[in-house]
Amino acid sequence: MRLDKYLSDMGAGTRSELKKEIRRGSVSIDGTVVKDPGFSVTPSSRVTFRGAEVAYEEFVYYMLNKPAGIISASEDGREATVVDLIAEPKRKDLFPVGRLDRDTEGLLLITNDGALSHRLLSPKHHVDKVYYVKAAGILSESDAEEFSRGITLPDGLECLPADLKILSVSSSDNTSEAEITIREGKFHQVKRMFSAIGSEVLYLKRLSMGPLQLDPALDTGEYRRLTEEEKQALGI
Ligand code: URA
Repeated sequence: MRLDKYLSDMGAGTRSELKKEIRRGSVSIDGTVVKDPGFSVTPSSRVTFRGAEVAYEEFVYYMLNKPAGIISASEDGREATVVDLIAEPKRKDLFPVGRLDRDTEGLLLITNDGALSHRLLSPKHHVDKVYYVKAAGILSESDAEEFSRGITLPDGLECLPADLKILSVSSSDNTSEAEITIREGKFHQVKRMFSAIGSEVLYLKRLSMGPLQLDPALDTGEYRRLTEEEKQALGI
């Protein structure tokens, strides 16, 4: 790979900035200053930029606790996206694995690993997603049974069976709290399912996706790299 691309992939700057820096002599490979931006770097090369080693990572994985009010996209000409919340020197190829609605909070994986994203999102794989829901109305076991049979939405969409665990109901403010596990990820799926049983989602937060659980230590808007154990659990 070209030296300027290597450094830009690792978030050291734009290709044009880096070309200038390289020509200025800011980069060494295996201890020797290299001034050619097109110099070919191999995986075993030790690259230093302004004195600091820049190791090559092909794939990166961040767990974000998505806050409400931010869109799940890589970039948007007009407003900040979930990828903009990753404040490290960052790569241009990051994207969120799937989408949460603007007002949904919780677990979102941000990566540049397209194969993993495909595995987690492919409808064939039925990866479990667990959400905490605060809903209008009093949920009952008959709602849970309806979800477990697989409900049909008003537009004819047949949902796969989903598990509804009712956590609490409050007759004073006519709301319920529950956890719902779905195995697919259709547009506004949880909200549409609750609407189909005559309820309304008031607050929605994703707690897990497959083996990956939202770290309770992450406040909304915070993120961290996946641990080695989490990567292993995801098969990476
Ligand atoms: N289902 C929804 O309705 N919204 C989300 O953001 C995620 C699942």
